[in-house]
Amino acid sequence: MQILVAAWLAAGNAAALDSPSAFANSTGAADTFSTLGAFDTSNDFFRVLGSNGRSCDTCHRPENGWSLTPDALKARFDATAGTDPVFRTNDGSISPLAAVATLAQRLQAYSMLLSKAVFRIGLPIPEDAEFALVAVSDPYGFVRVGGTELSLFRRPLPTANLRFLSAVMWDGREDVAGKPIHRALINQADTATTGHAQGIPLSADQKTSIVDFESAVYLAQAIDSQAGALVGVGLRGGALRLSKQRFYSGINDLTGDAKTGAPFDPEVFTLFSAWSKLIESAPGDVRAAIARGQRLFNTRPFEIEGVGGLNDAPELGSPATVTGTCSTCHSTPNLGSQSRPRFMDTGTSDEVRRTRDLPLYTLRNRFTGEVAKTSDPGRALITGLWQDLNRFKVPALRGLAARPPYFHNGMAKSLGNVVDFYNGRFGLGVNNRERLDLLMFLGTL
Ligand code: HEC
Ligand code: HEC
Repeated sequence: MQILVAAWLAAGNAAALDSPSAFANSTGAADTFSTLGAFDTSNDFFRVLGSNGRSCDTCHRPENGWSLTPDALKARFDATAGTDPVFRTNDGSISPLAAVATLAQRLQAYSMLLSKAVFRIGLPIPEDAEFALVAVSDPYGFVRVGGTELSLFRRPLPTANLRFLSAVMWDGREDVAGKPIHRALINQADTATTGHAQGIPLSADQKTSIVDFESAVYLAQAIDSQAGALVGVGLRGGALRLSKQRFYSGINDLTGDAKTGAPFDPEVFTLFSAWSKLIESAPGDVRAAIARGQRLFNTRPFEIEGVGGLNDAPELGSPATVTGTCSTCHSTPNLGSQSRPRFMDTGTSDEVRRTRDLPLYTLRNRFTGEVAKTSDPGRALITGLWQDLNRFKVPALRGLAARPPYFHNGMAKSLGNVVDFYNGRFGLGVNNRERLDLLMFLGTL
């Protein structure tokens, strides 16, 4: 793939890139653009801040879409026999007690990083929670009833496109009610240093410089290996263009736009609308396929039922069924997140989808006696509310191709697995060509 991009650049296409920092991925190349200009690799983001050799870029790598991939982790494991700072037992291993003395032990201990690039986030059940842990099946023998924390295996979210966030972390645990996202990012930088990096708290200057750095970073796919440049006349792909995308809290919200009052508009992605005319005139052209994929994402209706955070949302009238599209939930224009903090349960941590490498927790509602089994309670561990069980933020969808696998627990190895999950969950009813169109589109974000 690297060769493909090099050839594409050699063919005189370099000018189409917003910056020289494009990295190849499975469908082309993603590009990073910083509004601060050249990358300042002397920023504290890249400096070892903790006692375990880690910096922010140990886990948020520009070449992995500002996240990490299993392939990249395998290469780092092989190059260092599993001693690269990313391989640490506080959150890199299957259990903090995992043995790591020998190479064979390290392969075992870091199996979740090597297979799915997920870290072990340890979180307690809040004291005043509406539920209690009544049984645990932890394949790694660490979590127990009466213990201090649950093990939650989660993907690093990208440290890019942060201006558009309405919630920080999969469960929004760094958010500060009533405060702008900048405050949450400042907190987050601190907890990442004391937690992931096992360091001392950052100075106010360090926090500000890290947050200024990461907030200036934009990531998007810039080249598609089949369609060519995703930036150019009439197109809205690429990182530079993304840096200019309009955003405010509540833009295109399901309850209506917070500023203009306009009703929710399902036409969320308009990146490749310029290619729509090819759908009629050249249906076999890959650019027509991408335009059809975008149209499908915005407009193909299916029935959405049983989604906590949507079908029971009082502000939406608690609709038992929503006839919606992908963009109903992925509603922020040209980003695909939610512009207001809204957490949803699409079933990704349900007992039925739990794989044997994940713990399974049995929780009982203290008031109703109801019992639920889950591999990750999500938002409920922050609010203590039963109704928030298994809810996660709706993540932004730019730069997807650079950072497989997908969903909070990395359960979808590829974008194809993502689409198949939705097909099973909501019955999209897409035929083969439509599935490929949607995949082409998701690969260009
Ligand atoms: C050991 C790996 C690791 C290190 C080191 C690390 N992070 Fe993270 N980061 C993660 C993981 C995993 C998540 C998602 C956790 C979750 O949501 O529960 C995350 C989430 C984030 C997010 C949230 C993005 C979003 O969309 O909500 C930001 C911002 C972030 N990290 C910044 C930083 C900064 C700044 C540093 C350095 C001070 C840092 N990280 C160090 C693994 C790491
Ligand atoms: C009912 C709301 C809802 C609908 C409808 C929906 N999504 Fe999602 N989407 C979510 C939530 C919530 C997550 C995060 C779930 C998790 O990680 O556990 C997510 C995650 C994703 C991810 C993974 C992103 C990442 O960084 O890992 C992709 C890709 C995605 N959705 C694409 C789609 C597509 C394509 C459609 C239409 C076929 C769609 N979604 C429909 C709510 C929705």
